[in-house]
Amino acid sequence: MEIIKWSEKYSLGIDEIDNDHKELIKLLETLQESYDTCLDKETTLEMFNKLEDYAAKHFSLEESIMDDLKYPFKSGHVRDHTYFATMVKKWRNDEKIECKSQKLSQFLTEWLFEHILHHDMKLRDHIKQENHKTDE
Ligand SMILES: [Fe+2]
Repeated sequence: MEIIKWSEKYSLGIDEIDNDHKELIKLLETLQESYDTCLDKETTLEMFNKLEDYAAKHFSLEESIMDDLKYPFKSGHVRDHTYFATMVKKWRNDEKIECKSQKLSQFLTEWLFEHILHHDMKLRDHIKQENHKTDE
């Protein structure tokens, strides 16, 4: 199975957010690389915990930016974040998670790229617009 990687088209041009996205992809890549084998359960759970913590921290950063800007599309964006968090939580509790991690990470990576292109880019445009207003 091909490993999905970060590329420049996913860059928002906002370092704080881009670095978080890259780190999330890196965490997911570690899981993607584990294909064809069942990992050690403890290692798998450790990876999932790391992913869950990092994603929560990152989502709250974006959500606080949305609050500051009174972003009008916050609810849809947050709903998408909640979906990711719920999926990670659900799978982390799956009995055979150590044998499914590659498939799941592929799914989560695809979700993340879709999310960046749709929701995060829309937020980026709004941030730019707001910055432009204050420049005038
Ligand atoms: Fe987001």
